[in-house]
Formats: sequence, C-alpha cells, structure tokens
Amino acid sequence: MGLFSPKTQKIKPAKNLTGTIQFPGDKSISHRYAMLGAIAEGPTEIHFFSTSADCQSTLTCLKQLGVGIERKDNVVLIQGAGLSGLRPAAQPLNAGNSGSTMRMLAGILAGQPFRSVVVGDASLSRRPMMRVAAPLELMGARIKLGEGGLPPLEIEGGVLKPIRYEMPVASAQVKSAILLAGLFAEGETEVVEKVQTRDHTEIILEQMGASIGCYHRTIAVRGRARLTGRKLHVPGDLSSAAFFIVAGLIAPDSNLVLHNVGLNPTRTGILDVLAPMGARVKVVNVEMLNGELIGNLHIESGPLRGGEIPESAVPGIIDELPILAVLGTQTEEGLTFRGAAELRVKESDRLAAVAENLRRMGAEVEEFPDGLRVAGRQTLHGAEIDPHDDHRIAMAFAVAGLVAHGGTEIKNSSCVDISFPDFFEILSRVAD
Ligand code: S3P
Repeated sequence: MGLFSPKTQKIKPAKNLTGTIQFPGDKSISHRYAMLGAIAEGPTEIHFFSTSADCQSTLTCLKQLGVGIERKDNVVLIQGAGLSGLRPAAQPLNAGNSGSTMRMLAGILAGQPFRSVVVGDASLSRRPMMRVAAPLELMGARIKLGEGGLPPLEIEGGVLKPIRYEMPVASAQVKSAILLAGLFAEGETEVVEKVQTRDHTEIILEQMGASIGCYHRTIAVRGRARLTGRKLHVPGDLSSAAFFIVAGLIAPDSNLVLHNVGLNPTRTGILDVLAPMGARVKVVNVEMLNGELIGNLHIESGPLRGGEIPESAVPGIIDELPILAVLGTQTEEGLTFRGAAELRVKESDRLAAVAENLRRMGAEVEEFPDGLRVAGRQTLHGAEIDPHDDHRIAMAFAVAGLVAHGGTEIKNSSCVDISFPDFFEILSRVAD
C-alpha cells in the first residue's frame, strides 16, 4: 500500500490478505457503558473503550454535565453521578458526528431538572430528530428542534411519566433513549419494536442492576432503579470487523483471524446473510463478557453466491449494507436489498453514496428509493472515491480498491476516525 497524505489514501489491488487483527472496542457498546456509568452509583471502569471520535464525543458531553471521567489509552474510569447528580452544562453539548450521542443522551437529558442544548456537525445537523423528540415529549420533556425536525435539540427536562411506546421506525438509538428516560420516570416504561434492533442497552441495564424485562418485542424498564457502577470489558467492534470480513472473503488467497469480536446475536446479521452464500467464516472460542458474546472469526476467501437479502434482515445489518454492496459485485448472482430507506438518513445518504462510487469504479448498480441491486461477477476499476465525509463509505471503498484493477484514491480519508482510526494502518499491515 502506498504512502498517503492525511486526506487522500491510496489503495493498491491486493495479492492476498493474511494475519491476525484485534479490533478496538465496539462503538455502540462504548457509548452505552459511558452513559450508564455516568448515571450509576460508584465507579465504572471500562476496558477496551472504543477509539472512535464518536465515543469521545459522548465522553466530552458527559464531562460537560459534571461527570468525573479519566481516560488512559483505552481504559475509561467514570465516577458515577447517580440518577440525580448531573449538572447543567455551561455550553451547548456537542455530539459531533454522532447520532448515537445526540439521540441516546436526549433520553438522559429529558429526565434532568434543567435545560440542555445539543448540537452536532454538518452531517448530524441534517439527521432527523423528531423520532426521538416525539416519545420523550410524551413522557413530559419539552423539546425544541431546529427547522424541519433537525438539530439542534433544546431539551427542557423534568419530571417524567412512564409510557408504552410502539416504535414507528426500527431504531436502537430511539429505543435506548426511551429506556434511559424511563429510568427517571416513576413506574414502568415499555417500548414495543416491530423488528428487533441491537439490545446492548437492555443488557447493560440489567448488568448494572436495573429491573428490565423483555417479552416478544416488548421491553419494559422500571423507573427510579439504582444502577451500580462496575468493571466492564467492551467486545471488539463487529461493524468495524465487517470491512475485514468482506475483504478476506473477496480478496484472493486470503486468510484472516479476527480476535475478540462482539457476537451479540442482534449484531451478527452479516454472518447470517453471508452463510448461505457459501462464505468461509468460522466462529470459534465464543464466551460471554458482561452479558455480551465475544469470539474469534476465521475468514478465508472463496466463491460467493450472492442473492436477495430479506427485508426483515435489514435492521440487523444496517451499518454493514455499504460493505455488503461492495461484496455483491464479486458474487456469482449479485446482491439485492430493499427496505433500507433508513440508509438515506445516516452519516450520508448511503444508498446514493454507494451507487455513485460503485459507478465511479465502472460497476453496474441500480438504485431504488429504499435499496440497491448490484450485479455480480463485475470487474471494478480503480477510481477516485468521494466518501461524502462518511466513515463507512470510505472503508467500504478502500476494500473495493483491494479487488479493483489499478489504483484507487479515497478522498478525505480521515473521516474513518469517526469509528475506526486505525483502519488504514491495519489494512496496510494485512494486505500484500
Ligand atoms: C446504533 C444504531 C443504529 C446504527 C448506528 C448505531 C446504536 O442506528 O446505524 O450506527 O448504537 O444504537 P439507528 O438506531 O438509528 O438505526
């Protein structure tokens, strides 16, 4: 792999990928451990905390709310303030690029007896917030949004009442915000999901001593519970590993071992989609770590069938769809997915960004309002990639560059710092 400027990253076609990779802690889980640690009683020590800029945004916001936080490398020590120990921030809270920070923190802020303002960067300022404001207002918070239901969020928190809420969109962030707000309400708050989304919030709530019950698609949490801080280990980030899973499957003669990856069944949708395609993925050494499954993955390249991803699988692979679209070009039958309109309101319009960049590489792709159809057996050509400031687009097309003819240039490549700052370094280590 060539030397690079901080902005443009050059990717050469790979002869093979080999080696062992240890991934940084899961981003979704790190956000939750930090937020729950902040409102628990006593200290919480988090090991393998995510290296992402997004999770740093969460820590910075929590500090602004008066929480004692020390970070030494990837160990974060949080002095829990308890349910009523947060203090108003002197300045607006800045969630940066992180939708998880803005939406989940809104749940905690809704229960505070003070007013908070949460802002974000240009990309986050284009993302819908009504989905989180609506249920929190039903609980009694007063929330003002920017024009069109966009950030900034102005939250006048206070005494909350429990609600039963049927989720109109499949969103773990919104579900989590309601459950977090439910901690501050007197009585039982219930969230009903149409399709299951990631359940890390439910797991850590239980681990910290909250009273939480899940039956079918309903999750109930009892308010005013005492949460107890504790020592926690964050599993490696499967959504970051996904780029190397796909790279190892499609680059020739590859053999990768991915260590200590989170295998929570609400996150392993990508493995479920890949298995029937004939993907050579072996899961070994599975164990449980503070309620989360973790294990190693062995990846070998080989032929992949492709096919149509059922709509019901989409919420479970929402962050993996860009890289799966890249994989689709290297399959026998191509890859189609629908029911993924949510991708249009992620860090970028990911359906448009994937289609545009696949076309830049000479690939055939059809864009639907809610999905993509990518033809199989395609030859990709090295191209200049515009990631639209979206980390997952930059990483997906770096992987595409490994199997392209000729060199690929990823513009503004430092956007990968949002979730995976070491991505290019690891890629250059395992790619020959
Ligand atoms: C996340 C949930 C998903 C996902 C995001 C992280 C989380 O978003 O896309 O990267 O940590 O709960 P939605 O819940 O909005 O679908």
